[in-house]
Amino acid sequence: MKIIALSTFFISFITLSIAQQYSLPSLRFEYSAYEPHIDAQTMEIHLTKHHQAYINNLNKAISGTKLESFSLNQLLLNAGMRSDAVRNNAGGHYNHSLFWQILAPENKQGSMSAELKSALEQEFKSLDSLKSKLGAAAAKHFGSGWAWLIVTPDKKLKVTSTSNQDNPIMDVTKERGIPILGVDVWEHAYYLKYQNKRGDYLNSIWKLIDWQMVSTNYITALNDPLLKEIADDTWPEIKEFHKVMSQTFHPAEKDDLLPLQARSGEMLAKAILLKESVIPVNYQKPELKAAMLKLVKDCDELDKLVKKNAKKIVLKTKIIQAHDTFHVIQGLCKD
Ligand SMILES: [Fe+2]
Repeated sequence: MKIIALSTFFISFITLSIAQQYSLPSLRFEYSAYEPHIDAQTMEIHLTKHHQAYINNLNKAISGTKLESFSLNQLLLNAGMRSDAVRNNAGGHYNHSLFWQILAPENKQGSMSAELKSALEQEFKSLDSLKSKLGAAAAKHFGSGWAWLIVTPDKKLKVTSTSNQDNPIMDVTKERGIPILGVDVWEHAYYLKYQNKRGDYLNSIWKLIDWQMVSTNYITALNDPLLKEIADDTWPEIKEFHKVMSQTFHPAEKDDLLPLQARSGEMLAKAILLKESVIPVNYQKPELKAAMLKLVKDCDELDKLVKKNAKKIVLKTKIIQAHDTFHVIQGLCKD
């Protein structure tokens, strides 16, 4: 029997940005509905004890801090800057919510969309090949963790794995993207029924994957602004330039030229690093290269003007020009 439409919950809870307390989602089906592949007791303990503990600990970790107003995605994106408590428990909440969402009993599953089927075949040749890759990623994982099927920033499908409760949204992981399918490889996910036979659990889990839900996740991920945030996050040079531009331009707008006068050389150096950086695949286009060259030229002229003690109005005009050029670059990085 269906209990609630967890997908609706899942989409809404990851986009919340108001102060919040996280809460436990309900399963889509009764605990026993996943048998014989996952037993009812495992499902109940997994949800009401393990997942609930991640939620309790996450709420405790963010309580009374500015993180209360952050979305779950924001907590995950910058996991490297967070405490272990926030990183582990935000990951635990996100990962399990996705896991519950993509599981369904064999007779309750929808079929895979044509779009996902085509993308899978392009990347992995066949569904069996994907299963084998994802199963291998899970099986060879040392200790606790997750195996994933993700959409990468260049909109390809990829199989990855992470340790503990990390996931591919996090800046602490090497292979990043939005997960559309996740397999829990913690012992608590299978030990009661399978004991040490992790391979048997991994073979059985495929019988519970609801490919219609994974297909929905695929389309959602392709259009999710989060994918661009992850792409930008994997291009540190643009973040670094953006930082120095913000910290000099905004005071200059208020006629405070001191930050610019102190940092024009740094801004030029970061513009050069940006021009020489590896541009993410989905942003590569000739106009972007041209705009980055123009940015270096603007910053070079600005630095020379600073060194010549040019008048404030001249410096302000020039930094507005460099800022406009950077805006062109940002515009070209939109899909
Ligand atoms: Fe788990």
